[in-house]
Amino acid sequence: MDSKLTGRDLLTTEDLSLDELREIMLAAHKAKEGQRPLFLPHMNGRVALCFFERSTRTHQSFLTAAQECNCNVIGFSSTEGTSVGKGESLADTIATLAAYDTDLLVIRHPDVGSAKIAADICKFPVINAGDGNNQHPTQALLDILCMLEYFGGFSVMPRGSNRSYELNFEVLQGKTVAICGDLKNGRTLHSGIPLYRLLGMNLILCAPEELQIPTPDAIETCTTNELEYALEAADILYMTRFQWERPGMEELQHLKGRYILRRQTVERINPTVAIMHPLPRIAGEHCEIYPDVDDLKNALYFRLQTPCGMWTRIALLRLLMR
Ligand code: NCD
Repeated sequence: MDSKLTGRDLLTTEDLSLDELREIMLAAHKAKEGQRPLFLPHMNGRVALCFFERSTRTHQSFLTAAQECNCNVIGFSSTEGTSVGKGESLADTIATLAAYDTDLLVIRHPDVGSAKIAADICKFPVINAGDGNNQHPTQALLDILCMLEYFGGFSVMPRGSNRSYELNFEVLQGKTVAICGDLKNGRTLHSGIPLYRLLGMNLILCAPEELQIPTPDAIETCTTNELEYALEAADILYMTRFQWERPGMEELQHLKGRYILRRQTVERINPTVAIMHPLPRIAGEHCEIYPDVDDLKNALYFRLQTPCGMWTRIALLRLLMR
């Protein structure tokens, strides 16, 4: 398959064009619809998963995606058991994983800029699966896929025996996404905002003052610290957790439980809003989304957003790998 994305890194969403986004979304939708073969046999490759920071969904969905694409997977899901604890540098760990006839490397790391360091070492595509509080492009892409699937962005064109799909980005144009929680540390939304801008969406940034971000350029934006206000005005409510493990968060303990979305609040204020969360959500009394929300049919985080992670990563492996 010929694609302009082949051989490229995915470190950020800032440099993605609308055409590239379209190509990724259509490939992900095809993966969702189970079109086989996802890969031609000679395209099988070796994927290195290098997770220096913990992960459930991102790691598991990359692993599943690689298996779906008949790839061979090497790497690690935590630094325990690697030589990182002996003092090995990031560059040396990456150079090692790159040395085994590797075709693509996925990296998650607590430091901003780590994915770029890896990309400078590797002579094949590198995917940033989260670098500190900076970027998490694959999450932002799967979030867009989830929105497109939910709002009916794809249609099927029967052509002979082969199905083909059309994508209509206009279903998202003018829609308002309210992002609520720890905006300062939320790399998923730092990658999301450039895509929302590209698609002509509007933004509500809902956070306590300490965790608010500067108003981004070239996208209609409101800021607030009131969840109920954000909920009322949103087509999509994107909840995020407070990232207590990030530097500087110790002093903000008083914000625990600041935003909790409950079913009765959704039903009272905006019963049709699409509810998303990159997950994990914090368990217990300080959760961002109370478990009684989970059964609502517009609560998308487990039902649609999570599997979108696998389909999007299948698409990315397929498009980026040589
Ligand atoms: C997010 C992350 O790691 O940035 N999780 C994810 O990848 N699905 C969000 C978070 O950790 O809160």
